[in-house]
Amino acid sequence: MYERTRFWEEGANLLLPPQASTTAAQIDAVFWFITITSAILLAIVTAAMVYFVKRYRRRSHADRTEVVHESRVLEISWVVVPTLLVMVVFFWGFRAYVATAIPPDDAYSVQVKGQSWFWTFEHPSGLITQSELVVPVGQPVRLTMTSQDVLHSFFVPEFRIKMDVVPNRLTTIWFEAPQEGIYQVVCTEYCGKDHSNMGAHIRVVSRAAYIEYMRTGGGQDLNLPPAELGEQLYTSRACNACHTTDGSAGTGPTWLGIWGQPRPGSPEGTVNDEYLRAAILAPGAYVAPGFQNVMPSFEGLLDSTQVNALAAYIRLINGAATPSDTTLPADSTAAPAN
Ligand code: CUA
Repeated sequence: MYERTRFWEEGANLLLPPQASTTAAQIDAVFWFITITSAILLAIVTAAMVYFVKRYRRRSHADRTEVVHESRVLEISWVVVPTLLVMVVFFWGFRAYVATAIPPDDAYSVQVKGQSWFWTFEHPSGLITQSELVVPVGQPVRLTMTSQDVLHSFFVPEFRIKMDVVPNRLTTIWFEAPQEGIYQVVCTEYCGKDHSNMGAHIRVVSRAAYIEYMRTGGGQDLNLPPAELGEQLYTSRACNACHTTDGSAGTGPTWLGIWGQPRPGSPEGTVNDEYLRAAILAPGAYVAPGFQNVMPSFEGLLDSTQVNALAAYIRLINGAATPSDTTLPADSTAAPAN
C-alpha cells in the first residue's frame, strides 16, 4: 500500500532527503557545487549592483568626468572564470549522469509499468506487484520502464534517480541501495486527476527476507479466508487508488452498496459474482454509468483465486458474505503454514 510521508511529518526533510543509493552522493556533490557557486555569484553581482546604484545615483557628487578605459584583466577574467565553472559542472555532471544511467552487468532486471495512476513491477522471478517493489539490500537493480497510457515520470528522491516513463518506449535507470528501508516513489510528470497520488514504495530488505518474500509470492498469506485476502489485495493491488469502501466518491464507483446494483452489461442485470469477475478482467466493457473508462485490465495481473477473493471482500463489505467467504477453504489445513 502506498502512503506518502508529508514534508512536515517526522523523518521528512525540507532540504535534501537522506542519501539512500550508491550514486546519491555524486549527484548531491554536483547539486551543492552548482547551488553554492550560484549563491556566491549572486552575492557578488548583487553587492556590486547595490554599490554602484548608491554611488552613482542622480543626487550623488561622485566623480563622473574620467574616461573609462578597458581593463584587459577584467575582460579575460569574466570570460575565463565562467567558462571554467561551466566546464567543471559539465564534466562533473556528466560523470554523475553516466554513473546513474549505465547499470552494472550483474544488475537485477525489473520491469516497471506506469499507468494512470499506479505503478506495476515485474520482479526477476516473474512475480508482479503493484505499488510496491521489494529488492535485496546491496543489489544493483535495473528498472526497464514503459507507460500504458500517458507520460509519467519515475522519481525516487532518496535514490536521486528520476526518469521519464513514456508510452511505446523503454527507458531505463538503475540503483543500488546499501541500507534496508522503505523509500518513496513519486510520479513527477503531470498525468491527470490523481497524478499527485501516483506513488509506490521501494522496500529494501535483507537477502533472506527477499528470498522469503519471493517464496510466498509477494509476502501474500494464502492461508486466509477469501474475504480477508481480498481486503489485502484491495490495498496491495492499488484498487484503493480509485475505489473507496465507505461510500465516498472516487475515480471509480465506491464498493459500498455496489452489490446487487443494476448494471448494464451484467448477465443478470445486477452486480453479482460473474459481473465482478468480468469487470475486473475486462473493465472497458463494463464501465459503470457516470464513470470514465480509465480502469486498466487486470488480466494476467490477478489470478482466479485473487479475483474471487476481491469479489468475496466486496460481498463482505456489502453484508452479503457467504460462509465460505469468511472461513478458510477446507483443504487449506493441509497446506504448509507460511
Ligand atoms: Cu503519473 Cu503523474
